[in-house]
Amino acid sequence: MKILFVGDVVGSPGREMIKEYLPKLKSKYRPELTIVNGENAAGGRGITEKIYRQFLNDGANVITLGNHSWDNREVFEFIDEAKFLVRPGNFPEGTPGTGLSFVKSGGFEAAIINLQGRTFLPAIDCPFKKAEELIQVARSKTNIIFVDFHAEATSEKQAMGWFLDGQVTAVVGTHTHVQTADNRILPNGTAYLTDVGMTGPYDGILGMEREAVLKRFLTSLPVRFEVPKEGRKQLSACLIEVDNKSGKAKKIETILINDDHMFISE
Ligand code: FE2
Repeated sequence: MKILFVGDVVGSPGREMIKEYLPKLKSKYRPELTIVNGENAAGGRGITEKIYRQFLNDGANVITLGNHSWDNREVFEFIDEAKFLVRPGNFPEGTPGTGLSFVKSGGFEAAIINLQGRTFLPAIDCPFKKAEELIQVARSKTNIIFVDFHAEATSEKQAMGWFLDGQVTAVVGTHTHVQTADNRILPNGTAYLTDVGMTGPYDGILGMEREAVLKRFLTSLPVRFEVPKEGRKQLSACLIEVDNKSGKAKKIETILINDDHMFISE
């Protein structure tokens, strides 16, 4: 089976790219499971129920989140009923939502886990310990287990990849918004990519308006970042081929669509 994972969708430009390209990517690669990280989908911060449902309509099976999970307060009204919305599992006990979701699609059952790093991000529960816990639960139903590790530090992401090698199908990083070129299959069969990259404005800074970000760097004054409404756009994703029986990954390719690349790695 194949898993398509589209990285951090930023605002309306990102949502437009999903609408336009997700059906095309799905008809080209025919993935049984499609996952979208939507933590920046509502104006760059958080997600709404309408956007969550739109992603499912556009062809996603599951939506993952990250450090912006709570930035749009509408999320509290629907997260507990949203079966296919997964927030970092290592948020403190009692937090709304879930860090693990099971999906049946294309004749397969898969487990999707979302975790958040702690290096240069708020101090939350240990993502490594929580990963072990959630994988144990996932394994009772399936050996196809996908981990979206939403983290800032490359070292923490690589550490998670090696920690889970042989335990899960894939560990793919999100949050830093620039696709990395280190897609590989680790020795015990786990697909690894430090960051899948961002889907949204192509000429901003990590998807936000350049002017505001520059002003912050040049003056250190507090500035509100907004998603540019106009301009060029990009989509970042990866495609993982999975051995159906063992749940181990056979291949991971990156996909990058923008005005400079129409790039599928081999
Ligand atoms: Fe993030």
